Amino acid sequence: MDDDFKKNALAAGKLAGEALLYGKTLIKPDVKIVDILDSVESFIQEKGGFPAFPSQISVNTIAAHQCSALDDDSIVKESDVIKLDVGVHINGYIGDNALTVNLNNEYKELVEASKKALKNVSTMFTPGTPVGEIGGVIQDTIIDMGFSPVKNLSGHGLGYFNIHTCPSIPNVRLDNSNVLEENMHVACEPFATNGKGAIAEGGSPTVFTLQVPRPVRSPIAREVLQKIKTYDGLPFASRWLEREFGAGKTRLALMELQKNGSLIAHPPLREIGKGMVSQHEHSFIVGDKPIITTKIDDE
Ligand code: CO
Repeated sequence: MDDDFKKNALAAGKLAGEALLYGKTLIKPDVKIVDILDSVESFIQEKGGFPAFPSQISVNTIAAHQCSALDDDSIVKESDVIKLDVGVHINGYIGDNALTVNLNNEYKELVEASKKALKNVSTMFTPGTPVGEIGGVIQDTIIDMGFSPVKNLSGHGLGYFNIHTCPSIPNVRLDNSNVLEENMHVACEPFATNGKGAIAEGGSPTVFTLQVPRPVRSPIAREVLQKIKTYDGLPFASRWLEREFGAGKTRLALMELQKNGSLIAHPPLREIGKGMVSQHEHSFIVGDKPIITTKIDDE
């Protein structure tokens, strides 16, 4: 195995795991969600890593890509089903993990469903395993507990400065020929719901990725684009820019950069049946003895 890859992927996974558990301790009633996200990202940088994507807290029926704007004063409520998703990169190698918290345990079983699904597949990241079989075990586990897997969300390969590469790790049984290979680096993220089992994009995006930097007209957009280039092609939060350039300038710049095709937007992903959604995620290095790079304790 490439030494650089292994050393950095293990370090990124460990820090991502620590940051996730740190973030979990901050999820308490009436705490501002944006403050939790800021604290997790500061924690990552203080320990020598960088966010591989903006830390995200997606609440209730939103499965993913919910990321507070700077002026978002939403707070944690005891009944919320809160997905915390945290990614770290160290020298471009990524660790990605997530967990779900429901403080009053109203949705305890739903939270348990995605957690158990991830646990049940954690020994399957061995060379030659068809990814569709992993999806099958996820699907069966979640259905056995009375819920549905979210079929159009999947895990993904983790590339160098690239959060979503091949192979895709489905959350349902798929009959395709993709098999895992030695030293593949992948994130597996089962999502469970009491809704219809699918998501669609909905709402204003606050997470973006630089695709191709195209020439821009306005000086504001040019200035913001220079900053965006420092994110190394990884996803970023509009909040990071708002802090530096102000909300108005940021909004104008992001609009112009989306219009001219420089940016891809990642809007919130909502369960189409308005179901509650839980998620658990770990990063794995495929091998005869698979390594869970993000595993810190029992989460
Ligand atoms: Co992921």
